[in-house]
Amino acid sequence: MGKSKDIYYPSKKVVENATVKDYDKLYKKSVKDIEKFWAEEAKRLEWFKPWNKVLDDSEFPFYKWFVGGKTNIISNAIDRHLKTANRNKLAIIWEGEPGDIKTYSYHALAREVCEFANVLKAMGVRKGEVVTIYMPQIPEQVFAMLACAKIGAVHSVVYGGFSHEAIAERVNDAKSRVIITADGGYRRGKPTQLKEIVNKAMEIAPTLEICITVKRTGEDVYMENDRDYWYHELKSLPIAGHSCGTEEMDAEDPLFILYTSGSTGKPKGLVHTHGGYSVYTSATHRMVFDIKPEDRWWCAADPGWITGHSYLVYAPLINGATLFMYEGAPNHPYPDRWWRMIDKFGINILYTSPTAIRGLMRYGESWVTKHDLSSLRLLGSVGEPINPEAWKWYYRVVGQERCPIMDTWWQTETGGFVITPLPITPLKPGSATKPFFGHEIAVVDEDGNEVAPNEVGALVLKNPWPGMARTILNDPERYKDTYWKKFEEKRWYHAGDSAKKDEDGYFWIIGRSDDVIKVSGYRLGTAEIESAVVSHDAVTEAAAIPLPHELKGNAIHVYAILKEGVSPSKQLEKEVKDHVAQVMGPIAKPEEIVFVDSLPKTRSGKIMRRVLKARALGEDEGDLTTLDD
Ligand code: WT7
Repeated sequence: MGKSKDIYYPSKKVVENATVKDYDKLYKKSVKDIEKFWAEEAKRLEWFKPWNKVLDDSEFPFYKWFVGGKTNIISNAIDRHLKTANRNKLAIIWEGEPGDIKTYSYHALAREVCEFANVLKAMGVRKGEVVTIYMPQIPEQVFAMLACAKIGAVHSVVYGGFSHEAIAERVNDAKSRVIITADGGYRRGKPTQLKEIVNKAMEIAPTLEICITVKRTGEDVYMENDRDYWYHELKSLPIAGHSCGTEEMDAEDPLFILYTSGSTGKPKGLVHTHGGYSVYTSATHRMVFDIKPEDRWWCAADPGWITGHSYLVYAPLINGATLFMYEGAPNHPYPDRWWRMIDKFGINILYTSPTAIRGLMRYGESWVTKHDLSSLRLLGSVGEPINPEAWKWYYRVVGQERCPIMDTWWQTETGGFVITPLPITPLKPGSATKPFFGHEIAVVDEDGNEVAPNEVGALVLKNPWPGMARTILNDPERYKDTYWKKFEEKRWYHAGDSAKKDEDGYFWIIGRSDDVIKVSGYRLGTAEIESAVVSHDAVTEAAAIPLPHELKGNAIHVYAILKEGVSPSKQLEKEVKDHVAQVMGPIAKPEEIVFVDSLPKTRSGKIMRRVLKARALGEDEGDLTTLDD
């Protein structure tokens, strides 16, 4: 099969276990009638009231799914399980970085979520209101998200590594009134200072009236009367009863917004819904990872990203699995922390990112192999293309050549997996393999013609799917322009990635084709980085580009022009780097800042980042006809 010899076939045992035994057959059926396929998936879930139309495409590109249906993601993620034997099953196993452990059955989870929901109600939170969550990876972060969903409020989780400016920008866009945080969390043995960052954000986010703080580290924090409340104090009041009804939502009502970077400086608040998102995340998770009732599932992403929303929180709970969650750094106190926990809790599936794998790989095999990892059945990867070397290490050392690797390609916008293997799929290291059910996918040129096998082109998704983001909050025009304008007549979704498809129909993702940089799997916009750089007093202009990095996949390299009279120095480089980390958060800290006298620009004044990149890599600079001398 295929030309490449580098193909990995699943074992007989994996195939016997598999939920889907014949990909081609189900795939053909699914794309022949996507509405029928998705309706069958939707029927697996509980609805207050069934839909009367599966897909409404009359207002392209603003698709609607399960129109007329009434549901709430919580009826499927929690309530339904309370009526079955799942009630007493563990929903969450959590380990804190210092080694503290907490477990919650579905019954206990339901109580925690009800209490949190009642507290939010007492704070005046209403259906449709946006609540901002800025928390460490502790169980309360999950409770807070679920509590919002339960009462019909819309959560907006801001990753705990972001700066106060980043929080304020998101809060101001969503006009959020309530923010939930913690005094801090643990990272590499030290408490982080989340509440302090929220306090600074509150100064520049005028809509925020109330901050609820969960006590985690016990560090001193500054709090103001009538603005700041400790969660444990609210929770002990009579208002926080153990029962709370689940709000009946329209299938298309928003469940959350999640901000992500695009090619302009302003982050996009993508909107996901109760109905379609429940169906899409649970179906992809069940079929791709063969979820079984006895499974212990670990998605090692932070809930602050879409991976955490879809596959740490919602899909595993809807599927009634036991999810594992860890607070801290993978190498604390030693580089075997992850492997120790897999052994200790008997984790069956690990879903993580290439950057995490590369990071753990450098410590050597013995940290892994000294633990018993025989509980592992499947592995997963997400966030960026996985280099074959890391793939093979993950396969051989972690999975002991027993566990197929599900390399899942998707985006914040897609809500769930789009290109992905199933456990039965023969794997080629570095390829996300084939489309998930219901998707027809192509690699095309500028005019929308499919390119020849192994040629690079733009990745397009031809069919709508229930998990797709419905719009960008407050900016539907931008939603149209970014994803749908390019191939408008054909109604194709333009993903913004360049890719190849080989002669076996396997997809190979190359990377972003827009001004987005993936650093350690995190998505950052060049425009955001550049404006952070020029907000430093010494700088007038800057260009940011990604260059390959052994651990991070890509690292940020900045070319900056200094103001008249300022001279470049190592000290200034450090200062500007720290400034960017301060403004955007530590993940955006540039690897290198080179001070230059000019930047290559087109005659219309656009910076040609492509030229900077080619020069840095010593590659051909390509077509320079638009370059201004
Ligand atoms: C971008 C989306 C999807 C959750 C995490 C990232 C890249 C994602 C893969 C993969 C190659 C991948 C793409 C995509 N990407 N998964 N398996 N192989 N590239 O979500 O932050 O919205 O980023 O991540 O470039 O467009 P995101």
